[in-house]
Amino acid sequence: MTDVRSFSVGPIQENAYLVRAAGDSTSALLIDPGDEPQKLLDAASALGASIEAILLTHCHFDHIGAVAPIAEATGAPVYCPEIEKPVLTDVMRWVPPGFGPFESWDPEHTLKGGERLQLAGLDIEVLFTPGHSPGHLTYAISAPGGADATAEQPPALLSGDVLFKGSVGRVDLPGGDWATLERSIATLMERFPGQSVVFPGHMGITTLGAELQANPFLTELRQGAALAVPAERKTAP
Ligand SMILES: [Fe+2]
Repeated sequence: MTDVRSFSVGPIQENAYLVRAAGDSTSALLIDPGDEPQKLLDAASALGASIEAILLTHCHFDHIGAVAPIAEATGAPVYCPEIEKPVLTDVMRWVPPGFGPFESWDPEHTLKGGERLQLAGLDIEVLFTPGHSPGHLTYAISAPGGADATAEQPPALLSGDVLFKGSVGRVDLPGGDWATLERSIATLMERFPGQSVVFPGHMGITTLGAELQANPFLTELRQGAALAVPAERKTAP
């Protein structure tokens, strides 16, 4: 069964994740290393795992601040949303005052969504889920052969700032758009079963089913009604 460990880093408490095919696997994926590179490197060492690849859901600074030092230290290739590569290669141009400094990185790979990757013994489906940011990706990660014979194990959804427990990603930053984000969330709901666990970029884990049932920002999805902007919206990161 896929082993997913969460580490909150930096002033905005972004969730970076180490994902392995099983609890004893010695290679890991690192998702969204936003800050505190040494903490994340130490966490991988404590698990006895080497970081095989670094995957980014999007390139807001709180998700990419530790990419360069960790890529340098490990040699792990970086997979970046294609549209957002110019942010990663010129990080400080996009960082608000009071944060950083962070190093830029030229990613080894770019992704558009629709790809299938095999890394660290894991199967990774890449989905295009824009709306919070223009190139945002969600990674649906599963361990091949790890599914229970009687009840198929849904993949772990590493979904960045698309969907939170009781909230959704903000859409007021450049490239954000509520109707687009809502469509992305709908795509995940249609594609994966309700028990799929969502590992978001901020706050605690949840499931697609729990959010479809109770998330106050998904009223239109629940009703299957025309897409519309909710009158009030929390500005979660
Ligand atoms: Fe973000």
